[in-house]
Formats: sequence, structure tokens, C-alpha cells
Amino acid sequence: MPFDFNEDVDGWNTITFLYNSALKEVGTKLEILNDEFKNIHQYNPIEYIKSRIKKPQSIVKKLKRGNYEVTINSMVEHINDIAGIRLVCSFTSDIYRLAEMIGKQSDLTVLSVKDYIKNPKESGYKSYHMLVTVPIFMSDRTVDAKVEIQIRTIAMDFWASLEHKIYYKFEGNAPEYISRELRECAGIISILDDKMLSLNEAVLKAKRQNEIENAIES
Ligand code: GTP
Ligand code: MG
Repeated sequence: MPFDFNEDVDGWNTITFLYNSALKEVGTKLEILNDEFKNIHQYNPIEYIKSRIKKPQSIVKKLKRGNYEVTINSMVEHINDIAGIRLVCSFTSDIYRLAEMIGKQSDLTVLSVKDYIKNPKESGYKSYHMLVTVPIFMSDRTVDAKVEIQIRTIAMDFWASLEHKIYYKFEGNAPEYISRELRECAGIISILDDKMLSLNEAVLKAKRQNEIENAIES
């Protein structure tokens, strides 16, 4: 049974505490995965991690947009991105590697996955989204808290951040040519990502070849 939150300031404080704890739990987990990977493979899949709690105004706006009641219980039930973590990595291959590692964590439950890399949004947006829950152990109970994890490359993050800035000014009513050019930019970004990935693979291959030759010589 879902936990029933008080509809008052106390309830709001509990919520803030809960989602902040969820961000800490998942953030630490991801840092540990990154460190372990670095230890074994001498390679960092995560470039950087950003996390945020959704602002109360944005939560209320989203509830109203969805015709939901504006209450604490309703927001816990309907708003999936109150706690959000963004993982920014170097290559597209890192994204799937991280998603697999996250999926294998026994204390995280993956509720849903949206692969906007294989199926980009109409805007050109690309990222890999996972909605997970993490148990928060409090002194007298355990509550599962939802966290939205967005995984993307530096290039995808660059596009999404700027598109958000540019598009936001129009509140969704941008002239058609702006949307078209932003989609075009998303295409250029994807070409860059593919190029960087194949360059990295070529370098890794050359490095392995060198190691084999050195081993034969010695
Ligand atoms: P939201 O109501 O926006 O949360 O959409 P949703 O519940 O259908 O979830 P979805 O997975 O589609 O998108 C969630 C989040 O992805 C958004 O809050 C943004 O952070 C990001 N996002 C989705 N589409 C776009 C886009 O076209 N441009 C940018 N810059 N970000 C996007
Ligand atoms: Mg959102």
C-alpha cells in the first residue's frame, strides 16, 4: 500500500526529505558503479552527474496540465520526475553500458524505460530515460521513491540544454523554421557522436594491436 502523506507543511517537508534522500542514494550508487568500472577497465563511463528536485511551481503546473488534483499524495502518484538525475557520458555505447549496470542493481526497481536514442522525439531530442524506484529506509518505515534517470552523451546534453533555452522563450509556439533548424542541429550532433565513437573504437583497436606486438617482441 502506498504511504499516505499528510496534506500540510509537515507532509511537504517529508516529501522534500524523501526525494532528496532518493537523489543521494541513487547518486552514490552511480558514483560507485563509475569508480568500480574505472578500477577494472581504467575508464570512466560517466563524465558528470547532475541532479535536481523539481520546483514546487513546476510540479503544480504539471499536475494542472494533467488535470490531476493538486495535493501531495497526487503529486507522489502522478509526477515521476520530482527527483531527477542526469548522467552525461562520452559515447553512445556508454549509455547502454550504464543502463545495463543500473538495471542489474538489486535494490533499484526499473518501472519503465524510454529510448529516445533509437526513437528520437519529434523535436530531435535524444536521451535514454529510466524511471526507477529506490527504497528509503526511515526509522519507522521504508518508502519507495521514484527517480527519473536521464542518460545522454555530452553532445546530446549540449543540444538539449540549448534547445530548451531557445525553445522555452516561445513557450512551444516557435516558428516552424526554428523547430526545423533545431532538428537539423540534432542531426549534426548525431553525426558528431557517431564519428567520436568510431574514432574511439579505432584508437582502442590500435592500442590492443600495439600491446600484442609488444608482447610478441618481449
Ligand atoms: P514531461 O512532461 O516533459 O516530463 O514529459 P514525459 O512525462 O512524457 O516524459 P519524457 O520522458 O518524454 O520527458 C521527460 C524529460 O525529458 C523532460 O522533462 C526533459 O528534461 C526531457 N525532454 C523531453 N523532450 C525534450 C525535448 O524535446 N527537448 C529537451 N530539451 N528536453 C526534452
Ligand atoms: Mg519532465
